[in-house]
Amino acid sequence: MSKIIDGKKVSAFVKENIKNEVKNLKERGIGVGLAVILVGEDPASKIYVANKKKACADLGIVSMEYLLPENTTTDELLSLIDTLNNEKTVNGILCQLPLPKGIDEKTVLNAISPEKDVDAFHPVNVGKIMIGDYDFVPCTPAGIMEMLKYYDIQIESKTCVVIGRSNIVGKPMSMLLMHANGTVTTCHSRTKNLSDITSRADILVSSVGKANFVTADMVKEGAVVIDVGMNRDDGKLCGDVVFEEVSKKASYITPVPGGVGPMTIAMLMKNTLTAAKRQNNLI
Ligand code: GUN
Repeated sequence: MSKIIDGKKVSAFVKENIKNEVKNLKERGIGVGLAVILVGEDPASKIYVANKKKACADLGIVSMEYLLPENTTTDELLSLIDTLNNEKTVNGILCQLPLPKGIDEKTVLNAISPEKDVDAFHPVNVGKIMIGDYDFVPCTPAGIMEMLKYYDIQIESKTCVVIGRSNIVGKPMSMLLMHANGTVTTCHSRTKNLSDITSRADILVSSVGKANFVTADMVKEGAVVIDVGMNRDDGKLCGDVVFEEVSKKASYITPVPGGVGPMTIAMLMKNTLTAAKRQNNLI
């Protein structure tokens, strides 16, 4: 039976450290601020944004919320981003995805100043991750690295397999594991013989977005299994991994909920703190 990687516990640990740092900065007259933009009415996005706001309040970070209507134009959004890029009290800017259909997502993400890009979606920050010289890491892969560190799970020389090649999770995850000296394979929808590859993994990260996708026969005995999935199965929140059977084989496993999810917001807070420190020449 595997050990559960407790995302709530690790995120509480990370957040406590951030809270102390924010307090110390405040005592020196330096505030930390995050602007969150939500366009439209996507119900899941509304919950994510509310959670981000609450995390800011808990840690002493000032959050500024910009709720824009569904019919907002790309130009209107660019104008808001330009204002926020030039606003000193705003250290981080996050534009919640997905954006409504009429908005040019690439243009919007490219407009956020790389120094305030706490999602690390700007090409400058993506490129920095590629070369291993980065301040901001996308929140989900960053949270996974933090969990592996907390549980003292070695990455160096391990066979790491990432299922999924998204810009938000799969690609940066693969890069971070490679920077930590893992031997990394990235699998995706066109990968052949997927289970042959996954069953060799010492560390298996699944970011597919399909319930019951990773079954026990795809997992090596003693593997570390990280489940990024956020799916609904008969209305119930679940990951990509069939937890009941895979947890019997894995050495460590993240549950859903309570695994990767709580880490992502903690890492957003960490990126916001990093942005504030950099903008005040403290690092
Ligand atoms: N939508 C789903 N995940 C994310 C994320 O990490 N950042 C933003 N901005 N939007 C998202």
